[in-house]
Amino acid sequence: MSNIVLVGAQWGDEGKGKVIDYLTDKVDVVVRSQGGNNAGHTVVVGEKKYILRLIPSGILRRGKLCVIGNGVVIDPIALWEEISELAAHGVKINSRNLLISECAHLVFPFHKTIDEQREAAKGAQKIGTTKRGIGPAYGDKIARVGIRLGELLQPELFAEKLRGRVKEVNLILRDFGQKPIKFKALLDQYLEVGEKIRPLITNTVLTVHKAMAAGKEILFEGAQGTFLDLDHGTYPYVTSSNTTAGGACTGSGIPPNRIDRVVGAMKAYTTRVGEGPFPTQDAQVADLMHSMGREYGAVTGRARRCGWFDSVATRYAQMLNGIDELAVTNLDGLDSLPRLRVCVAYKLDGKKIEVPPTCVRQLAKCVPVYVEVSGWEKSTSETRSFAELPPNAREYLRMICDLTGAKLKLVGVGQSRAQTILV
Ligand code: IMP
Ligand code: MG
Repeated sequence: MSNIVLVGAQWGDEGKGKVIDYLTDKVDVVVRSQGGNNAGHTVVVGEKKYILRLIPSGILRRGKLCVIGNGVVIDPIALWEEISELAAHGVKINSRNLLISECAHLVFPFHKTIDEQREAAKGAQKIGTTKRGIGPAYGDKIARVGIRLGELLQPELFAEKLRGRVKEVNLILRDFGQKPIKFKALLDQYLEVGEKIRPLITNTVLTVHKAMAAGKEILFEGAQGTFLDLDHGTYPYVTSSNTTAGGACTGSGIPPNRIDRVVGAMKAYTTRVGEGPFPTQDAQVADLMHSMGREYGAVTGRARRCGWFDSVATRYAQMLNGIDELAVTNLDGLDSLPRLRVCVAYKLDGKKIEVPPTCVRQLAKCVPVYVEVSGWEKSTSETRSFAELPPNAREYLRMICDLTGAKLKLVGVGQSRAQTILV
């Protein structure tokens, strides 16, 4: 039996949705353990394109149980919208295919307002958040003033907790020059949606452990990516959860010794959305991707920043997460390039370094050291085996894996399920 953790090895948007969709076919249970509806996983099945935000991508495969663990923050209004959208596409949600932790914390509209106001107040120093209230919601959790999903099911307790929260938040909103929250309207709105999702809410630690005891296999699907990790990423230009492999344990209640394998997803190049340092950012790569209509955010529609493959970053990601196998996606994005650059080190103050500095001020000063390789100048999107790939593409992939220090498992050459090469 094996339990797999899938992480993003870059700054998110590594094409995890597609990798999860592939891996889900082999497992019984799919678990989300961190993040919220800041995530956007795009999965293309046949002619249909699904964008999943809170619900694990496993929901698109029949007979799989999906779990939203305690480490996730949940905007129940957004969750209900997602459930309704899936139902409209014929994917019916019930407690047989989706269970949600009673310990997951709630995201409220005031978290979004505070997120927006903090960003506006930061001006040029802004993080570039998705404005979904993720940071303020996790902030409440850490400060021990958050409200959990299980409490939403106990109307009196919930009202008492929310009343206390609203009192303090209204002081904050007043200082931001914002209108106070109308307690009763918010209470009613949340209790109503709480009733709709009540059948899905449970102690998911038990769900996961029962599944393991029954010999079932579990996939932990990470959201965002390694360098957006609250502790190990490019702080403060990060998200507010642990996106690295350890987050799968704390965010779901699975012990570390039950994790068998870590798969890292990465693009054949690099992208980042939001602010913060990005050493290999490059206008040529961005122009190429955007001219093909690629690299626009699944959730916010923002144009992503693009750059060359950065092995300094992915090697560090391999170390942090213990990545055993790599899934390299979007190889076809590079098909037209005659020459490609590969970052093998950084220079900081004239000195060569091979580990990214943990301080963003220093990281921002790093200059990438590149080696140039020849492209393949041939479409790979119809390729279905590693051997069929153009020799230069194979060489490029080998280089990525050698520099990162992990085995190649899967290559993505397009958005659809079929455009996947297994190695
Ligand atoms: P937040 O998670 O909305 O607070 O945003 C913090 C940072 O993480 C911003 O740079 C966002 O663009 C980035 N971010 C959050 N979620 C994702 C994601 O799913 N993919 C890529 N970037 C993300
Ligand atoms: Mg995404």
